[in-house]
Amino acid sequence: MSSKLSTFICQNCGTETSQYFGKCLNCKSWNTIVEEIKSKRKKNQDTKNKKSLAFNEISSKKISRFTSGFREFDRVLGGGIVPGSVVLLGGEPGIGKSTLVLQSAGKISLNEKVLYITAEESLEQVKIRWERLNQSSFDLKIFAETNLSLIIEEIKRINPSFAVIDSIQAIHNDEMESSPGSVSQVRACSSELQNLAKDNNIALLIIGHVTKDGALAGPKTLEHLVDTVINFAGDNISSHRLLRSIKNRFGSTFEIGIFEMLEEGLREIKNPSSIFTNKENISGVTTTITNQGTRPLAVDIQALVNKTFYSNPRRTTTGISINRLHQILAVIEKHVEIKLSDFDCYIATGGGFEINDPSSDLGVAISILSSLKNIPPLASSAFIGELGLSGQVRKSNNLRTKIEEAVRLGIKNIVVPKLEEQLNNNFQNLINIKEISNIKEAVDFSLSK
Ligand SMILES: Nc1ncnc2c1ncn2[C@@H]1O[C@H](COP(=O)(O)OP(=O)(O)OP(=O)(O)O)[C@@H](O)[C@H]1O
Ligand SMILES: [Mg+2]
Ligand SMILES: [Zn+2]
Repeated sequence: MSSKLSTFICQNCGTETSQYFGKCLNCKSWNTIVEEIKSKRKKNQDTKNKKSLAFNEISSKKISRFTSGFREFDRVLGGGIVPGSVVLLGGEPGIGKSTLVLQSAGKISLNEKVLYITAEESLEQVKIRWERLNQSSFDLKIFAETNLSLIIEEIKRINPSFAVIDSIQAIHNDEMESSPGSVSQVRACSSELQNLAKDNNIALLIIGHVTKDGALAGPKTLEHLVDTVINFAGDNISSHRLLRSIKNRFGSTFEIGIFEMLEEGLREIKNPSSIFTNKENISGVTTTITNQGTRPLAVDIQALVNKTFYSNPRRTTTGISINRLHQILAVIEKHVEIKLSDFDCYIATGGGFEINDPSSDLGVAISILSSLKNIPPLASSAFIGELGLSGQVRKSNNLRTKIEEAVRLGIKNIVVPKLEEQLNNNFQNLINIKEISNIKEAVDFSLSK
C-alpha cells in the first residue's frame, strides 16, 4: 500500500516546499518549482544487525583501482576507477559522453565484467556507434532499458565490476509518478543505484546532462551523493574535448584530461601543450605555463589593444576572468605608468583554454604592453608570475615543473619570480632563466627593441 503525497520541488536546486512559489526561496531562480507527486516508500525491511566498530576491527583493504583504458581519464579519476565508487559524468548534449564511456567500457571489458545500460538509445544505435569506434572486445554487455527496477535486476544478475547508466535523466522509478528527469526521479534513482553499487562493490558511472549554464541538470544533491563528479566539455573552437574533475573523494580536482574527437572516436592528446601554443613571435602574444593538477601546460595569451571609440573602453576576455584583467590593467597603469583608459583591450587564451592559475598574470600584462607598443616580446620566451597590487611579481606554485615543461618545449627564455632555492643551477645551458621581482623589470627585459 502506498499513499500519495504532493510536494513542490525546485528543479534547479532540489529544495522541497509544501506550496507553490514563483521564485525558489533557496536558489532564488524563477519558475523552477514544479509539483511532483511521490508515493510513500515502504521502509527498508532488512535492517541488518549493525553495530559500531573500533578502527582495529575494521578491515581496510587497500583500494586497487582498475584502468578506464585511457590514461587521460585515469588521471582525472585520481589514478583509475575505484571499485564500488560512483562517478557522475556531466556534459552538454552531443559533446561525446556516450562515445567516451562506450570506448572506455569496451577497453575495461577486456579484463573486467562490464554492463552498459542505455536508456536513451536503442541497442541498434549503440551498435552503430560501437562499429564506428573499432573496438576489439566481445564481452561487453549492453542493456537497453529505462525502468529502474529492471535495470537493478539486470545489474544484480550480471554482477559486473563496472556498470554505466546512460543517462540518469532518462530512467525512472515506476513507484513514483513524476516524469523521468525530474528532481525527485533523478534523486530517487541515483540513491538506489548508489546503494546497489556500494553493497555489491560495483563501480558505477552515471552520465548526466548539463543545462546551458553548465550546471548538472537536476538537483545539486546528486553531486553530494556521488563520489566523483566529472565534466566533459569542448574548448569552443576545435575538436578537442576536456575532461575535468569537479569533485573527487579519491583524488585531486585540478586534473584535466585532453582528447580529440575523430571519426573513429576519442583519441588522447599526449602532448597537450602543443595544441594551445603557436610558437610565433608576434606582438600581443606571449606564452605562459599553467598548472593543471600534476601536469604543467603551456598556453598562449593573446592581447589586442586599440584606441577606443567609446566613452568607456571595451574590455573582454576569453579564458581568463574579466576581474583579473581589470586588476592587471590597474597594476600596469600604476606601476608601469602607462595610461590605458583610452584603449580597448581584448584578451584570449590559446584555444579558449580556461586558465585559473594566477601565475598567468605576467603573461597577460606583457601581451597587453606588447600589443600596445606593437613590439613582439622577447623571442622564444615564456612568462610566469602572479602580479601583486603593488606591482611585485609573486612566487608561483610548482615552478620547477613549469620550467621543465618550457625546456621540454624547446623554449629558450623564461621570465619567473625570484627563485627560492637554487633552481637556476639545475637548468644551466638548458634555458635562460630571468628572475624578476616586479612588473617594471619584466617589461624592461622582454619588450625592449
Ligand atoms: N562520424 C563521425 N565522425 C566524427 N565525429 C562524429 C561522428 N559521429 C559522431 N561524431 C561526434 O560525436 C558527437 C556525439 O557523441 P555522443 O553521442 O557520444 O555525445 P553525447 O554527449 O553522448 O550526446 P547526447 O547528449 O546526445 O547523449 C558528435 O557531436 C560528433 O562530434
Ligand atoms: Mg549520449
Ligand atoms: Zn531552487
